[in-house]
Amino acid sequence: MRTLHITTPDKSYPIYINDSFSALEAAFENISASKVCIVTDTNVEKIYLENIKTILSKKYNVCSFVFEAGENSKNLDVIRELLGTLCDERLDRKSLIVALGGGVVGDMAGFAASVYMRGIPFVQIPTTLLAQVDSSVGGKTGVDFKGNKNMIGAFYQPEFVYINSSTLKTLPYRQVAAGLAEALKYGYIIKKELVNYFKENIDKIIALDKSCIEHIIFESCDAKAFVVGEDEKENGLRAILNFGHTFGHSVETLNEFKLLHGECVAIGMVAAVYYSLKKGNVQKEDLDLLKELLTKMELPILCDNSSEDIIEQMQYDKKTASGKITVISLESIGKAAIEKNAPIAAIKEATDYITK
Ligand SMILES: NC(=O)c1ccc[n+]([C@@H]2O[C@H](COP(=O)([O-])OP(=O)(O)OC[C@H]3O[C@@H](n4cnc5c(N)ncnc54)[C@H](O)[C@@H]3O)[C@@H](O)[C@H]2O)c1
Ligand SMILES: [Zn+2]
Repeated sequence: MRTLHITTPDKSYPIYINDSFSALEAAFENISASKVCIVTDTNVEKIYLENIKTILSKKYNVCSFVFEAGENSKNLDVIRELLGTLCDERLDRKSLIVALGGGVVGDMAGFAASVYMRGIPFVQIPTTLLAQVDSSVGGKTGVDFKGNKNMIGAFYQPEFVYINSSTLKTLPYRQVAAGLAEALKYGYIIKKELVNYFKENIDKIIALDKSCIEHIIFESCDAKAFVVGEDEKENGLRAILNFGHTFGHSVETLNEFKLLHGECVAIGMVAAVYYSLKKGNVQKEDLDLLKELLTKMELPILCDNSSEDIIEQMQYDKKTASGKITVISLESIGKAAIEKNAPIAAIKEATDYITK
């Protein structure tokens, strides 16, 4: 098992990376809890809930809350039901919530933990690659509200994160690929070696070779831990995590229900690297490599929206201050730059490049 530590001004906690649940009991060794509620969704429930319940029941009084899988459940109505269960099951300040599932479960369970009795501890057991390389690390929790993604939420850090990479064996490949897009993102913004690693090992990566996937999870968590450690609440550096997301979010909104988040990030990264190429910061070979890697991973590199629609949507995005668009571009491969008030003409060239 490999361990990383994430340190924010609020808290320091470990991320365990393993290929089974064999060390889960030991991970809970120093954690006492009057009661534990495992929060999961209907898909993960069927595959993993019994096993985790059995492990935790050796030490704790355990109950569970299961909600319908999918982003549609990520709302305040389901949070209200979850808080109701916590009350009915008499969880108190010394109780613990365990998030078992993908990013939707982690964001919901973390948010409930942050508000129940003004905050009780929680643990993340992420089971999608996206959650393992991104959402379970860093403390952003929350729900969608009135059609806006992640509109209501809190920064709230877990006690620890336990990643079992073998849970990816049951995850549909399309979801795995979406997580790989987020992992590759860290290479471009902060870890050039990771881009090279993808280049050299792409065939093994898409075959989900255990040691490759674990390496990617470790390097991704390490990158995210560094960024979040520097800037927990997104006042500065953390914005670089939005590489590919400025364009990607907009494509995501325009293609709701059709494309996964990671797929939109893939398209968004192509736009962002093209944008950086036009500034003279990266080479044509860099753009070609990105497109080749994404295509091999079966991720899209184009969308069928118009440039005008994408740009209009970018201007609506909650992260754009008064219609000005911030683009995360590259100074070079492995080094991101935050460009506030990016010129629309350059943005348009990049969106033209990703539209069919
Ligand atoms: N908090 C953050 O920093 C952060 C960062 C990125 C994304 N997010 C959020 O994460 C969410 C997306 O996360 P996601 O992609 O994990 O989606 P998800 O949680 O909906 O999981 C995707 C699907 O896979 C299923 N699943 C999960 N684990 C499985 C397994 N091991 N085997 C088989 N099926 C499994 C789920 O039931 C679901 O149907 C979004 O709501 C997004 O806003 C949060
Ligand atoms: Zn993302």
